[in-house]
Amino acid sequence: MKNRKDYIADKNLFDKDLEGLSLKMLEQHYKLYEGYVKKSNEIQIKVESADKSEANGVYSFIGELKRQETFAVNGMKLHEVYFGHLQGDGKPAGELLAMIEKDWGSLDEWKNEMIATGMSARGWAITAFDYRDNRLHVYGSDGHNVGAVWGAAPVIVLDVYEHAYFIDYGIGRKAYIDSFFKNLDWNFANKIALEYGLAARYGKLHEQNGA
Ligand SMILES: [Fe+2]
Repeated sequence: MKNRKDYIADKNLFDKDLEGLSLKMLEQHYKLYEGYVKKSNEIQIKVESADKSEANGVYSFIGELKRQETFAVNGMKLHEVYFGHLQGDGKPAGELLAMIEKDWGSLDEWKNEMIATGMSARGWAITAFDYRDNRLHVYGSDGHNVGAVWGAAPVIVLDVYEHAYFIDYGIGRKAYIDSFFKNLDWNFANKIALEYGLAARYGKLHEQNGA
């Protein structure tokens, strides 16, 4: 691609233990994220020079690059939301809270769905705003490039890969998920929602519906 640009990793802003999440674990986790950024860039470069004429559904170098590109890029993006909203006080607030309460009826209903999704998924539990119906949804994903829904913007992202909690919790995923919510930065999540223009779109939908 002529206009290719390297992705640049977000800064690591972790410098102390969070409530229930050790700095040691966060630093290890951040290193994995850096790996996704590095590999995203490497794949983009290799795509440029790969022999497109050998493309093949069983195996080809270009096919393998394209398969792993979605793994690396989704891994990068999802971790950026996860780390970005992980240094807060856990107090629900803002437009996003209002949208959740409207769509689920209560914050607890939404949280129960997020926890259940997180307990059953092998990769991620994601609250995303879907541009198809202008509503929030909770989606589960078994891997960075498995279960992604096109045209949906992730606003609250819970990592449930073992690497996200094993150092501190062993197999105790539920306790880790509780800690995730205690540290959730709703201001950051609201900022993402605003950047995506979600509140405006959502408001329009409810106006149309007379709600
Ligand atoms: Fe992760």
